[in-house]
Amino acid sequence: MKKILDMITEEAVKAFSAAGYDAKYAKVTLSNRPDLCEYQCNGAMAAAKEYKKAPIMIANAVVEELVKSEMLEEVQAVNPGFINMKISAEFLSSYMNGMKDDERLGYDKAEHPRTIMIDYGGPNVAKPLHVGHLRSAIIGESIKRIGRLAGHRVIGDVHLGDWGLQMGLIIMELKERKPELVYFDENYTGVYPEEAPFTISELEEIYPTASARSKEDAAYKEAAMQATFELQQGRKGYQALLQHILNVSVTDLKRNYANLNVDFDLWKGESDAQPYIPAMVQEMKDKGFAYVSENALVVDVKEETDTKEVPPCMILKSDGASLYTTTDLATIVERMKLYAPDEIVYVVDKRQEMHFVQVFRCARKCGLVDEHVSLKFLGFGTMNGKDGKPFKTREGGVMRLEYLLKDINEEMLKKIQETRPEETEAEAIAKIVGLAAVKYGDLSNQASKDYIFDVDRFTSSEGNTGPYILYTIVRIKSILKKYEEMGKVICDTAIAPCTAESEKALMLELTKFNAVMENAFEELAPHKVCAYIYDLANAFNKFYHETKILAEEDAAKQASWIQLLLLTRRVLETCIDVLGFEAPERM
Ligand code: ARG
Repeated sequence: MKKILDMITEEAVKAFSAAGYDAKYAKVTLSNRPDLCEYQCNGAMAAAKEYKKAPIMIANAVVEELVKSEMLEEVQAVNPGFINMKISAEFLSSYMNGMKDDERLGYDKAEHPRTIMIDYGGPNVAKPLHVGHLRSAIIGESIKRIGRLAGHRVIGDVHLGDWGLQMGLIIMELKERKPELVYFDENYTGVYPEEAPFTISELEEIYPTASARSKEDAAYKEAAMQATFELQQGRKGYQALLQHILNVSVTDLKRNYANLNVDFDLWKGESDAQPYIPAMVQEMKDKGFAYVSENALVVDVKEETDTKEVPPCMILKSDGASLYTTTDLATIVERMKLYAPDEIVYVVDKRQEMHFVQVFRCARKCGLVDEHVSLKFLGFGTMNGKDGKPFKTREGGVMRLEYLLKDINEEMLKKIQETRPEETEAEAIAKIVGLAAVKYGDLSNQASKDYIFDVDRFTSSEGNTGPYILYTIVRIKSILKKYEEMGKVICDTAIAPCTAESEKALMLELTKFNAVMENAFEELAPHKVCAYIYDLANAFNKFYHETKILAEEDAAKQASWIQLLLLTRRVLETCIDVLGFEAPERM
């Protein structure tokens, strides 16, 4: 369906032309004075200069034409030359019915679907997920869903950090503890055991121990670096251990992400890109892009217009080892080859911005991507505690994701048990609402900004919070249920023209759905969806408080309201689905 602003603009275009003025002045926007009107056009002011006339004269002439439009119910020219409009109740209800009868709620599918890869999550194997990974997972998941709703082919890739010193450290520490394992026997030719020689909790303990020790013990670190090197050279026993580490880690990660309602199409990692490095480096050298500087192989990526220094992109260190940049470049090569995306979006901490500037420029310069492919960096800010510093445990350590979610769920559970001690499913409900609290708390901020993680505020059912949105949906569900309990049947009737202000205001909010979704996709901005559902929930609750829906005696009127409720619920549910959470049956 056409967006409502475009439809009204079309009416204004006709009116400007009919009145003898250029249609380019006919742009209609939402009113910034909702007390006076719903839509406005300020074009007469701009046109006044070209036509050398008083703006109010132009506005008057346009209004004379515009009053003929069936879409509008009130059109006024106001000094010095504004055109104020109110939409007609009939047209508004026909728009509502158009949305209601469309399975996409009036949001048209993208005309030219694109293949978009989202690189998000980015956990590091064998290290527990911490809150820093939370934002990438939450924002990336939402971007993926917003893209899918728009009709694009979106592929989510977790891009595991599974390549580097952490692997060598784990191998070394295991060797110290269990030297008898066959993985360390270079002469072993048999098959390696299927079962991993450690559990996830051991693995999570092994890494920090090894990492701490390597900081004090130079020989130990040297040995871990050697093990990393041998692993990367393909030493069989180490490769087999890597597989075990990956399997155990990934199983645990999948469980954690499932708790977050986050899932990935691809579980690829940095290690998958390694085979692409040699040919890529060779080509960079052959084409003359890469050159040796201070023993390292680099590609220049600075540009004349840079205001900040952009250092050369390092491809190989002096000892021939590859780097984070090399891996990301090779991953681009791999992605182009296997999935041919039109766009890759990286949802990563904004402190890594320079890394991505270098990688993107280098990829373009060396021709790793076609010109039409867009590479986007969606950098997010830090999640802080109430003290304004990065979120920590009470003891000051790095907060693990699992514990953070547990804290929130407990807080939610407490609230439910206080208000409704009779609830038998309090725990399940607390989990659903807790997740909404966390996700909405994060997504309602512009991604690039830091924000304060405030359990009390996020779990409150009042204000701009996840629970408030869920309450609104649950309220609608409960009215619908009561309606049926009264012995009435919900049939698919049309939504009648509104008769009250709050009803109209609710309808006007509903009309914005397609424009909001389109804009959220174009700007990769889930916070726009949050802002929208907050307004929509407010409009609904106002309507609810001013309307006796269930006590209404006029059955036709009541049936129409029920349809309006169903539509509101569908819009809200579609929105929270793209944000990555859901509503319970009761709260
Ligand atoms: N594993 C990295 C980290 O924890 C994030 C990976 C981001 N994605 C990428 N393609 N570099 O910092």
